[in-house]
Parts: sequence; structure tokens; C-alpha cells
Amino acid sequence: CSVHNYKFDVVVANVTRNCWTKPIVTVNGQFPGPTLYVREDDTVLVQVVNHVKYNISIHWHGVKQLRNGWADGPSYITQCPIQPGQSYVYNFTLTGQRGTLWWHAHILWLRATVHGALVILPKLGVPYPYPTPYKEEVLILGEWWNSDVEAVADEALSSGAPPNISDTHTINSYPGPLSRCSSAGDFILNVETGKTYMLRIISAALNDQLFFKIAGHQLTVVEVDATYVKPFNIETILVSPGQTINVLVTANKPPGKFLIIASPFMDSVVPVDDVATSGLINYSGSLATSQISLTAPPPQNKTELFTKFATSLKSLNSQTYPCLVPSTVDHSLLFTVGVGLDACANCDNGVRFVADINNITFEMPTTALLQAHYFNKTQGVFSDDFPGNPLIVFNYTGTPPNNTETMKGTRLYRLAYNSTVQIVLQGTQYVAPETHPMHLHGFNFFEVGRGFGDYESKQDPLKFNLVDPVERNTIGVPTGGWTAIRFRADNPGVWFFHCHLEVHTTWGLKMAFVVGNGNGPNESVLPPPSDLPTC
Ligand code: C2O
Repeated sequence: CSVHNYKFDVVVANVTRNCWTKPIVTVNGQFPGPTLYVREDDTVLVQVVNHVKYNISIHWHGVKQLRNGWADGPSYITQCPIQPGQSYVYNFTLTGQRGTLWWHAHILWLRATVHGALVILPKLGVPYPYPTPYKEEVLILGEWWNSDVEAVADEALSSGAPPNISDTHTINSYPGPLSRCSSAGDFILNVETGKTYMLRIISAALNDQLFFKIAGHQLTVVEVDATYVKPFNIETILVSPGQTINVLVTANKPPGKFLIIASPFMDSVVPVDDVATSGLINYSGSLATSQISLTAPPPQNKTELFTKFATSLKSLNSQTYPCLVPSTVDHSLLFTVGVGLDACANCDNGVRFVADINNITFEMPTTALLQAHYFNKTQGVFSDDFPGNPLIVFNYTGTPPNNTETMKGTRLYRLAYNSTVQIVLQGTQYVAPETHPMHLHGFNFFEVGRGFGDYESKQDPLKFNLVDPVERNTIGVPTGGWTAIRFRADNPGVWFFHCHLEVHTTWGLKMAFVVGNGNGPNESVLPPPSDLPTC
């Protein structure tokens, strides 16, 4: 296995997108940032040097970081941020992991522009469990604001109103050929008739889940969140912030141009330019003048399309890639996840949004939780009494509870090493219909069930899929429903669990697990690196 060395200089660069020029925070002046190509079991060392005025840290989204939370990246969870003028080396090994993942800033809303792909190829000589595509392409979905993104974030915290919706969605940072700001950077996949291509789709969007489809072409889904699935064909997929999806596309049409489109699943307002982002498939032999075959974006709130895609996903579960879903449960947890309103004396409208899990609005500490845990200095930093069930009994089918109040706290849930965990994630929808892409650091989990309504009144554990449930690191809790996930807590450390809609994280929809050390020689958190930042 090889060792890869990279240097990430975090610098401000002036970029023009959506007919608008502004300074943004970037890695090495690139937007999106550099794609890292590595292989399973390789070691990666990335020296991050902070040249900007913000604190920064980088998260390797989906990398399990076995015993090595020090390289995970979420600020104040596993590390203190890298301060201006400082640097830190992320040193990690991709043990047993292959597929499409990505990296992004994990502080404030800097990930809007500080992100890039992490492509982990199988070990040398090991084929994909599907026909080798003729070519592969990384396609990153994102959002662009003409205004300063941190100002949008501040407003979302203080105004009592939802944040400004991005001015446009993007593919590889460009709005695309349908935009009035179409430019040379638009995503164009040049194809040859008869060949099959693989798109490594990543959603780096902040606050929107996106439908994705291609005019005239089926998508064959082969991998999600860097785990193989049983291949299936579908027209429209849903990509939530944090998720990655590999699809095969066969160029089986006569020469021509075909529209690629990504449009928001749900959003309260639809500004004209924000409807969709686009790209093109361009067959060799098509004429410069040939008409683009169009396809309409799916209507917003089309929950059926989301459900169809979500329920089609099954682990490959082959001899080489077995599905290791825990069949027993040591910790059975029920988490309500949602957004509510709270009185606020100094907010513009007298109220503000808060978000919570089990009525706890997570409060960020001012020092890193993993350090506090490792050095046994948790007093005054966090407690490990996070409730395993909602503090206020939730009944989705009744009138919405008038008590949407939450209490603040830096509370963690403690898991014994190697224990098995089931979490039912119940969407609450106090304020509006919404889905929450919940992301767990340090693990993949299996989605063993999903349904609509109130889990507690409708549950039927016998219907859980314990044979070939999909394995992911980010899962969409259905609108007005629930999803059940399982994992084995075999990675000691402190692991963040949060909604990957940035505004919901900002409002407090987050918590963390603390996983104890085991007794075996390889079952404890590794010692911290010497250059670990301090707060
Ligand atoms: Cu991709 Cu904690 O995030």
C-alpha cells in the first residue's frame, strides 16, 4: 500500500460564478478543491496550512478513522480548529474502504466552498463488482450564494427566519448550460455511443437535497456512500448533502446532446434562478447546432420519488462483500429529530429557530470533546447523559405538541466498546415538512427499516431487513416518517452525529457518541499526534 502526501493551502481566491465575482475561501485556490485519488488500505497525509482569517478544520466524510478520531476533523468535537497562521497534518489509513467519498471544511459554513472529492479505488488488481466503466467522472453538486456565506449563516441564527436560499445550485461549482450565466466551466460529459460511463456523484450542497436525472438515460446505481449495492436502474435519484452515489450511464442513444439536471427536493421558496442546475451529455458526432434533449426537473416535495429510490437500495451482500448488519441490539434508542421555534428576547421577530434531538439542542463546547475524553478531563466540558428516548413524549399523529421547547446541553451518549446499537430516527415536523440527512462520523450503519407516521405506534420490527440492508454514512429521515439504523460500536472515540443540512446543524440538530476503549491491544484510541491544534 502506498502513502500519499498532499498539501492543502487554505487561501482566499477571487472567483466568478453565476455572473458574480467575490472572494471565497478555497484549498489551493481551486473551487471545488483538489480531487484525491488513492486506493483501499493506502495511507493519506494532508498538511493543512491556514492562511485565512477564519479558524478551519477538514473532515474526511465517510472515512472511518479507526481508533483515530484525531484525523476526523469536526471542530470542537475531535480537534480544536487550526487557527490562522497554523497548520496540522491529517494522517489516516483507508482500511477496508473503497469508493467515492469526499472532504470538506467542518466549521461555520466554510464547506460551501472548501470541499473536494476523495476517490478510493479498489486495491490494485481488484475489479469493481460490476462491468468496468469506459471512463469515470467526478460530479459535485453544490450551492452558490452571491453574498457572503458566513453572513447568511449569522442571519439564520439571529433573525428568526429561515436562511436565504442559495442563488443557484451548481455542478462542479458552475450553474450550467440552462443558466443565464452559462460559461466555459459548465459540466459537459463527452461520450461515445455504446460506451458506459461512471459518474461519482457527491452532494456538497448545504441546505438542499437534490433530485438528479439525465434526459433519455437510465441511471444504474452501483454504490452509495462508498459501499456496493445491488445494481438497479432508475430514472431519478435523490442526493442529500453528505451523500455520494456512483451511477453507470450507458451512451445508448444516437449522437446528440442530453440534459443533466439536479433540482431541489423541497424548499419553501423558489427563486427563479434557483430551480435547477444543469450539465450536458455530449455524444461524439453530435453537431454544435444540435438541439439539447431536455427533461423537466421533478416537482418539489415529490416524496414518492425519494421513497422509490430509498427502498430500492440494498447491500450487494455477496461472498466478497458480505453485509455485516448486527442481528442483536444492546442499545435501542429512539431519537426525535426536528426543528422548532423558541422565544428569543434579542431576535428580530421575538422568536428564533432551534433544532434538537430528543429535545436537546446541542451546545458546542469551546474545547475539543475527544481531547477531554482521552485525557479524562470531561468535567465542565460534556456529560454522558444524553437521553436514549425523547424527553417529551412524541406523538406524530396527534396535534403538534405546543411545547417545542428544548433544553441546551453538551450531552453525549455513552456506548460500550463493540456494543450493538439501533437508533430509530423519528422526524417531528413541528414547523414544516422536512427531511433530515443524518450523518454519523466514525462508522457506517445499516438502514434496517423505514416508514411513515409515528414509529412507536406503527412499529413492526419483524419487517426489519436484517439480510441485505443498505450500508451508508448519511441517511435521509423521510418526511413525516422514521428510519431505523444499526451499527456496531467497534471504533473507540468521540463521534459526531448530526443533520447534514448546514442550517439545521447550526440550529442545534446534533449530538455525539462517546465509545469506550475495549480490553484488547487494538481497541483503544491511538495517542494524539504532536501537532494537534490547541484551543
Ligand atoms: Cu460531512 Cu460532520 O460532516
